[in-house]
Amino acid sequence: MGRAWASAPAKIILFGEHAVVYHRPAIAMPVSQVKATAVAAPGRPDTGIVIHAETIGRQYLLDAAPPEEPLAYTCRSVLRRLKVTQEPDVTLSVRSEIPIASGLGSGAATAAAAAKALARWLGWELSPAQVSAIVYETEKIHHGTPSGIDNTVVAYECPLWFQREQPIEIFQVGIPLSFLIADSGQSSPTRHTVGDVRQRWTENPARYEALFDGVARIVHAAREALEQGDLTRVGKLMVENHALLVEMGVSAPINDALVEAALSAGALGAKLSGGGRGGNNVILVEPRHAQRITEALYAAGARRVLKSTLTT
Ligand code: MEV
Repeated sequence: MGRAWASAPAKIILFGEHAVVYHRPAIAMPVSQVKATAVAAPGRPDTGIVIHAETIGRQYLLDAAPPEEPLAYTCRSVLRRLKVTQEPDVTLSVRSEIPIASGLGSGAATAAAAAKALARWLGWELSPAQVSAIVYETEKIHHGTPSGIDNTVVAYECPLWFQREQPIEIFQVGIPLSFLIADSGQSSPTRHTVGDVRQRWTENPARYEALFDGVARIVHAAREALEQGDLTRVGKLMVENHALLVEMGVSAPINDALVEAALSAGALGAKLSGGGRGGNNVILVEPRHAQRITEALYAAGARRVLKSTLTT
């Protein structure tokens, strides 16, 4: 049997992180400049599945992996869904260019690539809905209470309007969008910030519900502005969304410094993206100002700045 290859993109949340956990809508898009990839290849007879997590330099047998190990969990979900009872002899090599714990969905993308490659090797093409469901189960190990937005956007690989327990909507924008994605260099597991928000919400539900409602209003307005191609308004709404994330307590000085630097250098809008407390910021720019803003971001402490364009 030959080899099977699959990949999955990183993601950014344009509007609505954290509030989306509490059933408010959010807008997310894939970032295909950075990916996770997986290759399934024939293994030695009678070894079963060998997982090779290349990025962290670990290789282990599926049978010997603890139940909550994310890649092992993903493989078991694929076998269960495809009703494969006899473990195949396959080596599944997984690598990711997506920085870990940085708000770009590295865990979700890695699981999606692994699930698709293993299923393909077994002769199945998983639908985006199936990939999303498998990755959601794995995400619960990473996050505890994920909203489902990360698994959905990496599985569907297109811009999405997402609200828990609602049908997902593929999102159209009226004009090409140019973004910079600035890595703060400070990793911060989403599980921690999501857990902190939950604790504060439990202590002060009225205040947090009001913050989440404020985010929801911004997300609805952003949808309209994106569909109309009104970039100035989209940018302003990003700044408003960042201010609410600051109030929620999920920003860090580096996120605020990157927002400030981007806006001073002429960005249309900027905010943290994903879990926050470091991770990545997303910045909306006019392409002619991208270089100047990139330099300002590096000067303010960004470790890496990616360019991303959305043209649907
Ligand atoms: C993480 O990318 C987005 C959060 O809203 C968590 C979630 O939705 O599961 C912070």
